Amino acid sequence: MTDTPVFLRSKVIVEPLVDRFYAWLHTVAPIQAAMNLAYLQVPMLESYVQSPQVHIAASDNPALRGGYFVNIGAERSAEVAELLETIKRERADMLRLAAAVAEAQELLRANATGFDLTPLYPKLPPELGGLVELAYDTDNQASVRFIEPLAYASEAYVESRQSVQLSLEPGTERPFILSTPRLPGPDVLELPIPFRHSGLEELFRARTTASTLGRLREALELDDAQAVQLGTLLSDRPSLSEDRHIEAGGRIRYFGHACLVLQTPEAAIVTDPFISADSSAGDRYTLDDLPDRIDLALITHGHQDHIVLETLLQLRGRVGAIVVPRPSRGNLEDPSMALMLRHMGFPVIEVDDFEEVPFPGGKVVATPFLGEHCDLDIRGKSTYWVELAGRTAYVGADSSGIDPQLYRHVRNHLGTAHYAFLGMECDGAPLTWLYQALLTKPVTRKMSKSRKLSGSNAEQAAAIMTELGANEAYVYAMGEESWLGHVMATTYNEDTYQLKQVDEFLTWCADHGIKAGHLFGQQEWRW
Ligand SMILES: [Fe+2]
Ligand SMILES: [Fe+2]
Repeated sequence: MTDTPVFLRSKVIVEPLVDRFYAWLHTVAPIQAAMNLAYLQVPMLESYVQSPQVHIAASDNPALRGGYFVNIGAERSAEVAELLETIKRERADMLRLAAAVAEAQELLRANATGFDLTPLYPKLPPELGGLVELAYDTDNQASVRFIEPLAYASEAYVESRQSVQLSLEPGTERPFILSTPRLPGPDVLELPIPFRHSGLEELFRARTTASTLGRLREALELDDAQAVQLGTLLSDRPSLSEDRHIEAGGRIRYFGHACLVLQTPEAAIVTDPFISADSSAGDRYTLDDLPDRIDLALITHGHQDHIVLETLLQLRGRVGAIVVPRPSRGNLEDPSMALMLRHMGFPVIEVDDFEEVPFPGGKVVATPFLGEHCDLDIRGKSTYWVELAGRTAYVGADSSGIDPQLYRHVRNHLGTAHYAFLGMECDGAPLTWLYQALLTKPVTRKMSKSRKLSGSNAEQAAAIMTELGANEAYVYAMGEESWLGHVMATTYNEDTYQLKQVDEFLTWCADHGIKAGHLFGQQEWRW
């Protein structure tokens, strides 16, 4: 029955992969992907192949949660060894590129002393020829600037690395995305297609609009066995929520972590889309609750819990544009989100601080984002101000209160927000946890631990509220929901510093007559 109407089942999850590792900005953007492959993923796989038991034991140890340990049973170690060999053989160009980046940086460290940089160009490794510019800042600190669009056209961006796994939400936590490659499995439909493949759009459209097995099979280029497997992911009826649209006024729904859906009858905005597919849990909004049409998806920054391809890929074809912050153009630590998403077939709007993007009946204004990036020169980060249905929301993501005066400028420019959504992951991971592969000069443990991925603590959040002056404050983006475990790997309990800081901030809000809350699971505001 290949021509009866079918819908994609509610509980289908998608994992976009590159060389079987979960795809995110730093494993997709070519230069950063090469660095991560060479200096993180290959060494990690080598370590696993040497002693799988060490990795398995570490993966089972709650104290080491979020560590770089491959969580794959020893009985499959031969497959991991094969993956390692395949990467070394087929990605030799990328591994050479990574070595060339390290070499170029060493060249600058040794030779860029404030004098003419021209003599250094012939000494650059050939892999970087035509791909980089060398430049000083006004303090004579030299750096390599990558001409990123060219990197996407080079051997460093090969779409054959990309594939997609489809399966049913297991209801248990998936392995940590930064450490554990995804091997094939009996319950997994493997699609060896690039992320921009139009068949994916056809597939995900079938969440809201009927398709047929025949049509999907053709769109996704499936063989017989794959078509049978796809059949298990389909249903003869949609599972959409009746109240996913509204008929009057405005509504904001918290979908978990940093994901908010802001709606009017005529428009819908989603922030940092990361949405559960587990509709049976009953304690959350899921993809079933998403409006059919989304005008704008706002991305606040490039961390793997905010630009989440497993959700974003499902929005292609139903989102007007993805709004992303403009990066520094070419810094190793600051890859362009716009370039990555455009190569995946998304319409993208890139914004600078205080630039506006209108949508029917409202507007979004990009606002500055402070800190939370280990003091690296990363400018691809933005908070947002959203006006709709007569109310305004300040979407603060992980922006910190290291200099609360910034938020006074936001208020001076834009007025007082009704709702402020603030991240308070105030004891984030150290520098090396996320950026190790990009650091070609080792940093000490002490230095790394002094530079954390931290948002606001209680005092800073209170200072933000004082300057910003919003009517209501909601702490979000804490990574606490169970369905985020494979991305967040957080370990909070009631004694955790972060949660105590949240309580302290909520007490401060109560003392100052500000309505406030700590978001968890789901919440709705309606006016
Ligand atoms: Fe972050
Ligand atoms: Fe975050």
